[in-house]
Parts: sequence; structure tokens; C-alpha cells
Amino acid sequence: MLGNGSPEQLEGVAFHVFAANRDMVDKVFYDSDGELLVIPEQGRLLLLTELGRIDLAPGQIALVPRGVRFRVILPDGIARGYLAENFGAMFRLPELGPIGSNGLAGARDFETPVAWFEDRDTPTEVVQKYLGRLWSMTLDHSPLDVVAWHGNLAPFRYDLARFNVMGTVSFDHPDPSIFTVLSSPSDTPGRANADFVIFPPRWMVAEDTFRPPWFHRNVMSEAMGLIHGVYDAKADGFVPGAISLHNMMAGHGPDVATWEAASEAALQPHKIDGTMAFMIETCWPYRPTAHALATSQLDYDAVWAGFPKAQVNRP
Ligand SMILES: [Fe+2]
Repeated sequence: MLGNGSPEQLEGVAFHVFAANRDMVDKVFYDSDGELLVIPEQGRLLLLTELGRIDLAPGQIALVPRGVRFRVILPDGIARGYLAENFGAMFRLPELGPIGSNGLAGARDFETPVAWFEDRDTPTEVVQKYLGRLWSMTLDHSPLDVVAWHGNLAPFRYDLARFNVMGTVSFDHPDPSIFTVLSSPSDTPGRANADFVIFPPRWMVAEDTFRPPWFHRNVMSEAMGLIHGVYDAKADGFVPGAISLHNMMAGHGPDVATWEAASEAALQPHKIDGTMAFMIETCWPYRPTAHALATSQLDYDAVWAGFPKAQVNRP
């Protein structure tokens, strides 16, 4: 749907959606162009990788490293979701700065599979993605035959419910980088090649504050997806499975209904619940694919129509 950078330059990220209704049979895939961050939205996925099995459900994420072969089984018969294909530096936990040693995503919650193998002497197609194209070869056996391994480049799973959410306990709306789960740094500190950021259930307690995201422009390009529920800055039109894009320096903010509700709300402690949105934020501008443009909402900026002029009381 969206992308930037290039696998040849080892920089940038692509934002895909997937929909599947068949298991991969006698076929495995690996991506030489980047690591794959798998974000299911509907239906479970069973990832059978060279380094073990990962059972994945919506609300969890998995990362398959660059070059690791895998095939996918659909325990529910169908599956849909998002993929971030990271051409740049590997996703890692962000620097915590003044937060200190603990907070946000904890290293202990990243689960790495133990070895699992299959001994199948049936012709197996191996599909590789390399420099943006798909290449195929056929082996006389399944390559998922690794009986034991050790090392430090392995797939993992993470349950987003384990994220220790930080936020203000006084006033103002912090930068959403406070919700960063994983970061792929660029050569410039503070300007990520890709950040995986989530908007999980959390308490809103800020005083004297307009609590939804403020109206802003910035140097990062923001692509969002929704796993379930309602995103707190969009009252309408952003459904699970959809993507929103605000490229660098494109002004954006809450829609009119969200602005009205937040402006009139009593600022009691309030829990945002039953939702999980996420963002793949990048310092490079996203270019939409022709498919994304052909299926996109062309009057999107109408959500900001209808704001009243400010009533300024002058003495
Ligand atoms: Fe934004």
C-alpha cells in the first residue's frame, strides 16, 4: 500500500495489508529485502519457521527476520492484517531516556520459539522476495528441517497487552513516541527509519488539557492501522483493516465530532478501552502504490470541514 526507501540501500519501510483464505502447502517464503513485522487483525496465523512455530492471534505481533524461511497455516480458515517490511536497521527496543530501566515494552515479554522441524520429502517451492521481485525454486524436501539451533537472530512474538503504557499524569498531550514498541533507527538520532507505535487501552487523566491528539504538522510520515475498536482521534470512517496516511508536513488532527466531544467533556479520569490502533512512523515520505491510490478516500480532508470560527472575546 505504502513504501519508501529501497532494499538495495538497506533503508526505508513498506506497509502492506494481507488477506488469505488458504494455507501454504508445499511452499515456503523468505524475504531477503527486509524483516517482516506481522500484525494480524482478523483470524489467527500459525507461522512455521525454520527456527520454530509461532501461534499468532490478533492483539499479538510477530517478527520474522530477514531471510528466515516460513510458511503460514490459517487455523481459522481466513486471516487478514498488516505487515511492515523493514529494509533498514533491525527493529529493537527504543532508548528509554529518563524513563530509566523499565517501561513500555519489556524485553522479558518477547517470546522466541524453540526448535521445531518437519521431515517432509515432498517437492517444496521456495519463494524469495529479493530487490522487490519474487524468485522461485523447488527443493525435493521441506527446508523447515532444522532440528536444533542457537543464535541471536530469531523470530519472536509479542503480546501488545503486555505494553506498559506511559502518559501524562499532569497536563498536556505527550508526543506519541511515548507509545513506541519497537524502533528501527536511521543514521540521524531522533529520526527513525521506522517506529512501531501503538495506541492501547489507557487512562486519560490530564487536567486543563485538550486530550485527543492536537492539530499538527511534523517531519515524520505517519501511516496508521486499526486492529480493533475505535481510534480516539477519529469518530468515524477509520475501521479495523483500514490505513490512514499523513505524510510529512501534511497538517492533521482530530475530526469535528472528536474535537466537539473533547472540548465539552468534563476532565474526569477516563479510560480509553477496547481499542488497539498502531502507527508505522517513518522519517521518509511514504509513496502510495497505484492500488492504494485507486482505493483511497479522495475527500478525506472533509473530516476537517465544519469547524466553527473561534469566538474571541475582546474587551
Ligand atoms: Fe500525527
